[in-house]
Amino acid sequence: MNDSTLPRGAGKVLVWDVPVRVFHWLLAGSFAGAWLTAGHERWMLLHATLGCTVLALAVLRVAWGFLGTRHARFAAFLRGPGEIVRYLGGLVRGKPRHYVGHNPAGALAIVALLALAVTAAATGLATYTLGEAYEDVHEVLANLMLGLVGLHVAAVVVSSRLHRENLAAAMVTGRKRGARADGIPRGLRLPGVLLLAAVLGFWGWQLTHPSGGLGAIATAEAHRDHGDDGGHGDDGDD
Ligand code: HEM
Ligand code: HEM
Repeated sequence: MNDSTLPRGAGKVLVWDVPVRVFHWLLAGSFAGAWLTAGHERWMLLHATLGCTVLALAVLRVAWGFLGTRHARFAAFLRGPGEIVRYLGGLVRGKPRHYVGHNPAGALAIVALLALAVTAAATGLATYTLGEAYEDVHEVLANLMLGLVGLHVAAVVVSSRLHRENLAAAMVTGRKRGARADGIPRGLRLPGVLLLAAVLGFWGWQLTHPSGGLGAIATAEAHRDHGDDGGHGDDGDD
């Protein structure tokens, strides 16, 4: 199973299914895009589009945590505090135990990232449709998520070095070092391709129909932010 004594030359096995990999890189790209477009009036529709993509992806990933393949399931990677502490102890000694799926500390960060993705994006949607009352909490949650993303990427770099295994590349190819019995039999390409097509379709449609979809549900303030009249008044709303 989870074995730190795996021979270095042990074969690579398929661990991450295609939907998990498509989800991960779409989430990372959408989060980065939402971050870069935040606070710029002329990029508001793009910001809302990418932010809503973050929301939809996080909700779908939660569902996939119950329906997906072996290592994608929450039941496979969520572990109790004892195992998290033992893992961190090994990490401090420079000898963390090798996990074929997510390690126990990473699993905790993943749940927090998903929770922040949902709440940051939901409060963004509330700011966009209901008004400024939600803006401060939206900004705080978005900042917290940025901090955790930084920690996540640092942890990926550190554990890649300690395990002498490129974990970021594994999130692309789906393959990690492991015993054959620990792998998944199929990558489930079709749902991954459908997810990618749905996201690209949503982006294409929303950006070519700026007054439909998200454009139609924006507050008057956010409409002005789309650049409909070029202004960003902070005086009274209608
Ligand atoms: C997780 C994804 C998201 C991130 C990281 C994010 C990030 C941010 C940040 C940092 C700000 C503060 C900008 C500033 O004024 O300095 C902001 C503002 C805002 N965001 Fe988001 N956001 C996300 C999702 C969304 C979504 C889904 C929507 C709407 C559908 C949205 C709508 C807004 C609005 C209306 C503002 C106020 C803009 C203004 O008046 O300047 N955001 N966002
Ligand atoms: C930019 C925003 C990012 C977010 C929001 C994010 C979020 C996540 C989430 C939710 C997972 C769990 C995947 C799953 O089981 O479905 C994950 C795993 C992972 N992420 Fe990211 N990620 C981001 C950026 C990155 C970057 C830039 C890298 C590359 C250096 C990276 C490398 C990884 C790796 C290697 C894993 C698997 C960890 C393991 O082997 O246990 N992530 N990430």
